[in-house]
Amino acid sequence: MKVAQIGVGGWGKNHARVLSQLGALVAVCDADELRAKETGQKYGVKHYTSLDTMLESEQIDAVFVCTPTVTHFDIASKLIQKKKSVFVEKPMTYKSEEGLKLVELAKKNGVILTCGYIERFNPAVESVKEFVKSKKYGELIMLEFHRENRMPLHIKDVGIIYDTAVHDIDTAMWLFDDMPQVVFARSGKIRHEHEDFATIMLGFKDNKVAIISSNWITPSRVRHFNAVCTDGIISGDFITQEVKIEKDLGSETPRKEKQEPLTLEIRSFLEAVESKSQPRVRAEQAVNVTKIAEAALLSSQKGVPVYIEL
Ligand SMILES: NC(=O)c1ccc[n+]([C@@H]2O[C@H](COP(=O)([O-])OP(=O)(O)OC[C@H]3O[C@@H](n4cnc5c(N)ncnc54)[C@H](O)[C@@H]3O)[C@@H](O)[C@H]2O)c1
Repeated sequence: MKVAQIGVGGWGKNHARVLSQLGALVAVCDADELRAKETGQKYGVKHYTSLDTMLESEQIDAVFVCTPTVTHFDIASKLIQKKKSVFVEKPMTYKSEEGLKLVELAKKNGVILTCGYIERFNPAVESVKEFVKSKKYGELIMLEFHRENRMPLHIKDVGIIYDTAVHDIDTAMWLFDDMPQVVFARSGKIRHEHEDFATIMLGFKDNKVAIISSNWITPSRVRHFNAVCTDGIISGDFITQEVKIEKDLGSETPRKEKQEPLTLEIRSFLEAVESKSQPRVRAEQAVNVTKIAEAALLSSQKGVPVYIEL
């Protein structure tokens, strides 16, 4: 499979490394000529500053889009219309209507479209998903997420809800295997142009709930979650991938091999393209994440809960 990548900045440079390791990378493109050149030379592939030129010059099956959020729609729609399968970094688009258009375009052109909700590939989340499915610790009733970081100075186009909380919105829907009926959020800004702290409550059926707490104020990197089940509390760390279960009669710490979620995510997408099968993160699900992010922003602006039907 021949794969190209557009956007090789802070996060995209990791995709280029993994794609090169997998022997799939054939070209990179970045509006920043120096970045494009350095990455192209590092991995021994052609580099471009124009997507159109890259598409004219290269025979490619799939493209990774790792540019800022506001550019995702234009770039991805162009690629899909050229019949390329596309992996778009999260959030899939800035507006959910744009995401819906991409879903339609992908169907029409018969290509695979997915979005970079990487926590689905985190072994810690996979463990919780297995426990919830098998009901090993009973019924999942409540999720709590803490995702905290120093403010990323280069993110200018979106605030913390679209940039950061979306990971937990997706993970909550994945673990509950459901979509929320109501969204209530509080957010504000201290240093960033957009909101830099947010607490979001997603209300699912039967009073199940996810509380998502994100901020760009905490100086250290925190990525933690709790899954409250009827027979045990599962807590985990997205970074260390450690999971612990507290039960009435003591605690358990199941062991799972630590793996790089990005490698698993990229491999999974390439397999989906090769076998023309549904990717783990379906594009429609990524659109729903954006819809919930929109509802969270609206809720925090209006100070009221937003009821949604997805
Ligand atoms: N899944 C994750 O955990 C995760 C983590 C960080 C960032 N991201 C996502 O990855 C994307 C990129 O984030 P980043 O932190 O790497 O940003 P960045 O600003 O560091 O890099 C973006 C790169 O895209 C290039 N670019 C911008 N517009 C372009 C265009 N039209 N054509 C070609 N190149 C263009 C820029 O020159 C830059 O090199 C965003 O969607 C972000 O939300 C995901």
